Amino acid sequence: MQILSLRKVCILLISSILISNFSFSKEGMWQPSKLKEQEKNMKEAGLQIPVEMIYNENGTGLNNAIVIFGRGCTGEVISKNGLVLTNHHCGYGTVQELSSEEHNYLLNGFWAKNNQEEIPCPGLTVSFVREMKDVSHFILSSIPEDATEEMREKMISDNIIALEKAYSEKYQLQAQIKPFYEGNQYWLSLIEVFKDVRMVGVPPNGIGKFGADTDNWMWPRMTGDFALFRIYASKDNKPAEYDPNNVPYRAKVFLPISTSGYKEGDFTMVYGFPYVTREYISSYQLEEVQDIMNPIRIQARKARLEAMDKNMRANPSVFLKYAAKQASISNGYKKWQGELSGLAVNNVLQKKREQERYFQMIASNSEKDTVSNLLLTRIKAVVNGSKNALKAEEYSRETVLGVEIIQKAAIFNSLLDLYRKNAVAEIPAFFEKTKKDLENFYKNYDLKTDQDVFLALMPIYMSQGENVVAPTMKKTFGFMGEDYQKWANYLFNESALANSGRMEDYLNHVQPEDTLKLKQDPAYIIYHAVNQFKKENIDPVMANYKEKLKPLNRQFMKKQLDYFAGDKDFYPDANQTLRVTYGQVQSIDLKTSNIYQTTLEDLIPRNNPEIEEFDIPKPLIQLYEKKDYGRWQENKTVPINFIASNHTSGGNSGSPVLNSKGALIGLNFDRIWQGTMSDLYYDPNLCRNVSVDIRYVLFIMEKYGKASWLFKEMKFVK
Ligand code: ARG
Ligand code: GLU
Repeated sequence: MQILSLRKVCILLISSILISNFSFSKEGMWQPSKLKEQEKNMKEAGLQIPVEMIYNENGTGLNNAIVIFGRGCTGEVISKNGLVLTNHHCGYGTVQELSSEEHNYLLNGFWAKNNQEEIPCPGLTVSFVREMKDVSHFILSSIPEDATEEMREKMISDNIIALEKAYSEKYQLQAQIKPFYEGNQYWLSLIEVFKDVRMVGVPPNGIGKFGADTDNWMWPRMTGDFALFRIYASKDNKPAEYDPNNVPYRAKVFLPISTSGYKEGDFTMVYGFPYVTREYISSYQLEEVQDIMNPIRIQARKARLEAMDKNMRANPSVFLKYAAKQASISNGYKKWQGELSGLAVNNVLQKKREQERYFQMIASNSEKDTVSNLLLTRIKAVVNGSKNALKAEEYSRETVLGVEIIQKAAIFNSLLDLYRKNAVAEIPAFFEKTKKDLENFYKNYDLKTDQDVFLALMPIYMSQGENVVAPTMKKTFGFMGEDYQKWANYLFNESALANSGRMEDYLNHVQPEDTLKLKQDPAYIIYHAVNQFKKENIDPVMANYKEKLKPLNRQFMKKQLDYFAGDKDFYPDANQTLRVTYGQVQSIDLKTSNIYQTTLEDLIPRNNPEIEEFDIPKPLIQLYEKKDYGRWQENKTVPINFIASNHTSGGNSGSPVLNSKGALIGLNFDRIWQGTMSDLYYDPNLCRNVSVDIRYVLFIMEKYGKASWLFKEMKFVK
């Protein structure tokens, strides 16, 4: 009795902490195959279609219109002929690859006038998830209660391999099994991968990347962050390698497009592939994010970006080479700052600690076994034991290995390994792969920029303590008279990697007897020093940390599910599997602004031809002056972006925003800075996703890109 009542008190208390951030469950990234459990909530929030339309196993669900675009983004099929809509920033690397100084699609955009003009994108894939199944039973049931962790791991991995093989043979699809809830469940996705994807339409940077880093993660926003691609298939509509004879993919399911817009409070859902969240970690792991990971990354990236930006602004060819690299480095840089500030504003650490106190009370009072009782103490011990190693790992990756020429010296390392093992048979393939790899590398490499990055990053690394800095690095620095410039000159003049011709010559002539010479390459010296130190001092600690933490996290997750099941709607952390999140169009009071939507009236006054990221293309300004908006206007202007309270994350870029009837109203591309901590803690008062209004996409396509030929294959609904 006493236990029960204490438990009740605990639950009441924790509910107020856990549930304070629940109104109609806007928090959550739900598995489409389990939406039935959300249906009541979703209907109350405004959903007007059965959840079976969103996902089912008959091949008719909307899931058949959602794709993993490339490796990390989402895209959606919006026409019967396999037209895919995604974000401009998701296609950015591809557009850069296809661009040259004569055909600069980043600067000028690209619009195919017909299918023949669509440009193949080697290496780009889109993947559909046709079905998802809970396979926990098959993966876990054979594991004995008393299995050691090692045994368990081995059995799970054997079971996964066998089951993936069986499913992929049966369905003739890629089968992928992933852990959910920290390994308490396992789910299978059946995936169809298309490899012939072509570029159809891309607005210029002045629209698709308007505001660039200044506006990134910000609201209000006026970015036309969209791009169009097309899936090509064999004549029988199956995935095929690129072939000029392939035909546009005939889509059984594609998203209808709503032309009627939305208003504040309207139901929205976002369907896509969020990459990773960590909503259920302990306060101890959260401390690592706050005290170690984010601060180190922010510090190093600030220095690296300054060096890159300076060179990119000074030289258009460097701009073209570094555009995608810069975007990805700066994206994290800014996000992690927002995350830190959101965590602080919300006092999330304190909240986690309180939750853990209640967790501990319940564990101590209701569980006889010591496992649950000691869980948090054990997590704390493991985490604390790894802090120095984590710090060292972050510093070496973000500083020394942020210098491209040093990173590339990994090639010498692999070659020396092959010579050491006398793996004669593997060497030709290694050379072939390396040459290709280097060709891609030099295409987007600028020595002067890398040298400036070196000068910016090395002092950060070298000024750390002995837990971080490899002793051989100290020695090398000493040889260089502790002079960074001298070190840089030596590195960038003498390394074989500093010059593509020299490197090619080197690879063509290198012999096993040249080992000594290889080892004296100044880029290799640095790479080796850091890598060896990492192997000996950091990796073993980190491996031990991960190994110990895994079962603890699994048990901690399981107990959270047990203790709080009735009070909180649990959803699994994001793991790049298909999810649905729902919310509503909703403004936020940011003191400086409280709007939920931006329009051309907000965009045009920001035009500034002096600053590249605010340089709006002239034809768009002319359309504005003529008010030539066609059918895409609302209140005599064109809406551009809007915000809503959907719980999204990285990977949700390019995800469709659907209305209550499942029609497309927007294209997700960002979150607001104040709410980026939602990967660790969702607060409905601060978290908003940012989307492009579909009418802006259609307006730009028709009036700017003159690409309305594409409308014929789409389906517009009221
Ligand atoms: N913040 C968005 C995302 O996380 C957009 C990033 C692209 N834009 C940029 N300036 N890097 O992907
Ligand atoms: N832009 C992000 C992406 O690449 C989505 C924004 C976010 O993290 O919410 O997926």
